[in-house]
Amino acid sequence: MRHSTIIGTGFYVPPNICTNDDLAQMMDTSDEWIQERTGIKQRHFADDGIGSADLAKHAAEMAIEDAGMTNKDIDMIIFATLNPDVFFPGSACILQSIMPFDTIPALDIRQQCTGFIYAVAIADRFIRSGWCDHILVIGAENHSCGLDFTTRGRDVAVLFGDGAGAVVMAPTDNVDEGVFDFTLHAQGEFYDTLWLPAPYGKYKGRITPEMMERGEHYPKMDGRTVFRHAIPRFCEAISEVLEKTGYSIEDVDLFIPHQANDRITNMVAQRTGLPKEKVVSNIARYGNTTAATIPICICESRQDNRLKKGSLLLAAAFGSGLTWGAFLMRWSI
Ligand code: ACO
Repeated sequence: MRHSTIIGTGFYVPPNICTNDDLAQMMDTSDEWIQERTGIKQRHFADDGIGSADLAKHAAEMAIEDAGMTNKDIDMIIFATLNPDVFFPGSACILQSIMPFDTIPALDIRQQCTGFIYAVAIADRFIRSGWCDHILVIGAENHSCGLDFTTRGRDVAVLFGDGAGAVVMAPTDNVDEGVFDFTLHAQGEFYDTLWLPAPYGKYKGRITPEMMERGEHYPKMDGRTVFRHAIPRFCEAISEVLEKTGYSIEDVDLFIPHQANDRITNMVAQRTGLPKEKVVSNIARYGNTTAATIPICICESRQDNRLKKGSLLLAAAFGSGLTWGAFLMRWSI
């Protein structure tokens, strides 16, 4: 059976930078607290009037051009985001309208920080089966429009940044390259350890003034519980995908973990035996850009020449849901 591979990459972050000191003007926090706990120094925030689909457009155009294609060559869009532009329809449809694309299928997925891993896995299976050839896979997030920038929301607000990453996936007959396999998991019993309670589809009107007064339209996180789950789940996903594909940790040339917290990344690298020089970290510059993080890291790693034709790339993520997963691929461009 043919494999799928990545033939074009792109990313975009909005120009406006928000430093930790800027946040400290809005809430009771400090550069020292944020850097020590997370490794984040700054993040980029989109201007008012720019949604996740607008951020995605820049990244998608770059990826399609990098693949040597035009919009007409794309057969399907998969858009991973936890910040859809509107409740419905999905951001993939909005992107389709603003790019524009023909009447190709446009699919949103909602797996938060693990969104890009799920999206690559779905695209891989569509391509391997021969159902279609070229899929635009996107992770894009406008977090800043929905964060509580007061002391009440400081535990979550300091973590996230806006941005978008995109890849074009295509078939290859060379089974020594492209996506070898992936592992995907979810554990819904912990859905409310990191979630957005409102608008809630089981209450009339979905959102009430009382819900807004309680700040339920802002994300809520039990950071310690999420942290406790993150490290073992990352490690499990890595060993599972290596076992499925018959590779060892020493074979991996580059590890791109989801960037939620540098402490998590360092502990995962230490426990799995990945040396620091093989681990990508850009959280200091962008914060947690959720579904956009891994494609941004992929694109930057290509630009830095850390990801080269023939590199064995391991990507893994853990996030709200709870969800986690990993994929292993041989880089082919
Ligand atoms: N500035 C200053 N103080 C703060 C801030 C802040 N921004 N936020 C919280 N604090 C305070 C707390 O109120 C608490 O005070 P207390 O001890 O008086 O109660 C103290 O700092 C310590 O808070 P903790 O939550 O225990 O801090 P911790 O060391 O656990 O770090 C963090 C918090 C960074 C959020 C950590 O728990 C974490 O990284 N969790 C995992 C996040 C993650 O992996 N998310 C998954 C991906 S995201 C996704 O899927 C969308």
